[in-house]
Amino acid sequence: MVNRMKNKLKIKNQYKINFKKISNNDLKQIKDWRNLNKIREFTYQYTLLNTKTQNAWYSSLKKSDEKIMFLILNESHPIGTCGFVHYDKLNKSADVSIFIGDKNFHGKGIGTIILQKLIKYGFIKLNLHRIGAEIFEYNLISVKLFEKASFKKEATLRQSLWRHNKWWNVYVYSIINPGFTHNL
Ligand SMILES: CC(C)(COP(=O)(O)OP(=O)(O)OC[C@H]1O[C@@H](n2cnc3c(N)ncnc32)[C@H](O)[C@@H]1OP(=O)(O)O)[C@@H](O)C(=O)NCCC(=O)NCCS
Repeated sequence: MVNRMKNKLKIKNQYKINFKKISNNDLKQIKDWRNLNKIREFTYQYTLLNTKTQNAWYSSLKKSDEKIMFLILNESHPIGTCGFVHYDKLNKSADVSIFIGDKNFHGKGIGTIILQKLIKYGFIKLNLHRIGAEIFEYNLISVKLFEKASFKKEATLRQSLWRHNKWWNVYVYSIINPGFTHNL
């Protein structure tokens, strides 16, 4: 138990995870990550992205009030993207989006750090009441990641995903801003 806690502290100190606004120069890298099978497997993206579709995504991102996306950096090295989609200001709600494209950074506790930062950003900066997430049934790492961060499973979208010649459930998770419940 003590060793496990020491390891986690080491991880926290070892990586300097920051978020930065996505710029034009980041688009090729993001496209290449998003096209990797190991990333597409866990997103709703079926077809491969190209420069045209990536530019269209970036234009819509700049115009949209519903998406707030960041490039994830370890020090100055880009490792993935994260942020919020379906941001609904009126209802103070948004869904979280997260992927680490550089596989050298998987399984090292960095996803945990990123999700904690996102929760803080969502609840404090955006003043959200609810943060949601949709997780594919076979994405066991994400189930672990989000449950560890105190997200609760609130629904199962039964057989709503067609992958690998079969139907899969999609789980809806959420976390509610504790500040709001304390004020009730
Ligand atoms: C999901 C993702 C961001 C997690 O990031 P990560 O840095 O690898 O996750 P962590 O190292 O913080 O691990 C989170 C938990 O999953 C577990 N885990 C991580 N890698 C694992 C593996 N290969 N096998 C089993 N469990 C694993 C860890 O044990 C950890 O739990 P613990 O702290 O209790 O040990 C990353 O795997 C990713 O980008 N996946 C592809 C895209 C994706 O699935 N996005 C989320 C869509 S909802």
